[in-house]
Amino acid sequence: MSDIKVYPVDKEGAKSAWINEESYQQLYQQSVDSPDVFWADQAKRLDWITPFTKVKNTSFDPHNVSIRWFEDGELNVSQNCLDRHLATRGDQVAIIWEGDSPDESLNITYKELHEQVCKFANALKAQGVKKGDVVTIYLPMIPEAAVAMLACTRVGAVHSIVFGGFSPDALAGRIEDAGSHFVITSDEGLRGGKCVPLKKNVDLALNNPNVKVEHVVVIKRTGGDVAWSEGRDLWYHELMATASADCPVEVMNAEDPMFILYTSGSTGKPKGLKHTTGGYLLYASMTHQYVFDYKDGDIYWCTADVGWVTGHSYIVYGPLANGATTLMFEGVPSYPDSSRFGRVIEKHKVNQFYTAPTAIRALMQQGEDVLGDSDLSSLRILGSVGEPINPEAWEWYHRIFGKGQCPIVDTWWQTETGGIMIVPLPYATAAKPGSATRPFFGVQPRLVDNEGTELAGATEGNLVIADSWPGQARSIWGDHERFVQTYFSTFKGYYFTGDGCRRDGDDYYWITGRVDDVINVSGHRMGTAEVESALVAHPKVAEAAVVGYPHPIKGQGIYVYLTLQAGEDGSEELSKELKAWVRNEIGPIATPDLIQFAPGMPKTRSGKIMRRILRKIAEDDFGALGDTSTLADPSVVEDLISNRQNRL
Ligand code: WTA
Repeated sequence: MSDIKVYPVDKEGAKSAWINEESYQQLYQQSVDSPDVFWADQAKRLDWITPFTKVKNTSFDPHNVSIRWFEDGELNVSQNCLDRHLATRGDQVAIIWEGDSPDESLNITYKELHEQVCKFANALKAQGVKKGDVVTIYLPMIPEAAVAMLACTRVGAVHSIVFGGFSPDALAGRIEDAGSHFVITSDEGLRGGKCVPLKKNVDLALNNPNVKVEHVVVIKRTGGDVAWSEGRDLWYHELMATASADCPVEVMNAEDPMFILYTSGSTGKPKGLKHTTGGYLLYASMTHQYVFDYKDGDIYWCTADVGWVTGHSYIVYGPLANGATTLMFEGVPSYPDSSRFGRVIEKHKVNQFYTAPTAIRALMQQGEDVLGDSDLSSLRILGSVGEPINPEAWEWYHRIFGKGQCPIVDTWWQTETGGIMIVPLPYATAAKPGSATRPFFGVQPRLVDNEGTELAGATEGNLVIADSWPGQARSIWGDHERFVQTYFSTFKGYYFTGDGCRRDGDDYYWITGRVDDVINVSGHRMGTAEVESALVAHPKVAEAAVVGYPHPIKGQGIYVYLTLQAGEDGSEELSKELKAWVRNEIGPIATPDLIQFAPGMPKTRSGKIMRRILRKIAEDDFGALGDTSTLADPSVVEDLISNRQNRL
């Protein structure tokens, strides 16, 4: 593809960068040729209570999937993120918190954060939280979210963060699956000037008889009214007022679970990916330093939410393990107006800025001067995550945010990978807009065809990873068999990512999107099966099929085909009702964009819905419907095409 622009490496910047073109080549080679030597060396970036003697012990053999790193080493995450920095940077700001309102912000030093974490860790212990217990965190983007996470790791509890936009039902399902007896929440959240009733959602979730929670700790954020269950509910500020600030860390094995994070798959309920202590922290910290070329004194801002893996690795753990100053933003890019990102960058003199293509496209739509007169001159590196970034959005980001001067790191990775996997290192890899480019150290991407045969050279196929890396998820909570089935049995001997990918003549990787029934809406992963099962729970719905379609801002939109129960008629009203129903069942991020009432679905004679056809119709790509002769009733296709929903 000759019309692709290449942005060469900035040689001047490379002189003082952590990694340049030569060191990337050399270290990458070592990382795959001698992983034991490479990772033992890298692991020195962490403080180990008991040094490890073994480095890598991993197998992707589907009969025996086992992933263990540094397995006899011992350490503690909160010690690595806090205590060890106190002597040298106790008074340095650890977290800059920027509130929903531009008038509210706060600086928290490492010393202060350490004190709060110790107190809250003691408070958790006093309420009965022990090593290995699962604590559910359902919080807005307030500093206490980081305090809660670190306090869990301090006492060896496993946190399970549920994104604050999820519904009471979704929350209940995750609390139950994790076997969690403790919940940390706030009275309300505040986003774009609107209150989100978090405590109320928790109360509703706990009405579910399968959910058995002993204590709910409530952080006062807005002061809004909340219902109170005496004995069960506890105010955070009251616990903190009496807690001691002296809390020795729990000694954890490198392979002890650190957190669970639920994500969507192509089938079934969301799965709780299990991440463990040593490998995860090492990988988050190392990728944060090298991908963002993080230097002491830099102000780093990742706009994700701690409810997603990006927030775990690149707001909290990576940056704090590195002694960085990390900015945490409570609000949204459009409030009070669309110049907000620019204003925050200017206010806090942000050096590294990491956001999602959907946010870039939403701003881009509003024109070149959307950031107003914000001074963006502090910016040095820009990052992108969550979905493929289209070259137009890349160019705009580069020009408007980066003034043509800042390298863009397009970071491909997943909840399962723990940290960034394919990425142009900012001063080591020439960028091509739209390509995640080259693998990070230790990552061995391969492309395979549908039979699992490895493909060579410039080609396209299923993206798999040939060997383990320390940040990899170890299992699915409570269901190791599903872990093996989902990731290691489709293509034997590899980890299967679920993504399709192209490799060009320069060995650059271009992620083309999911090849399974997962869609990516505004950078949020959604299982089409989850949305379908929410829809069929509605009394008027007989059958539902959900597919993605290209959406100018969200990347993919949610397109629903619905067959109603006999006697029910489709209407604008019912469409609205069903959208509200899904919001309520799962959360606003799962709201369907388009609903098409379809009296018949394209089914094979054995009754299986041919989703390929539905996908093509939703994409307005009728030329590529393929063979429809195997359908039980080929005439339904005509009906589906003529009644398709207008995408604009
Ligand atoms: C997609 C988010 C293209 C991909 C960190 C992956 C991307 C899924 C990129 C994981 C990128 C993420 N380019 N696609 N830079 N980053 N994806 O688990 O389909 O929420 O499988 O992790 O997002 O989403 P998850």
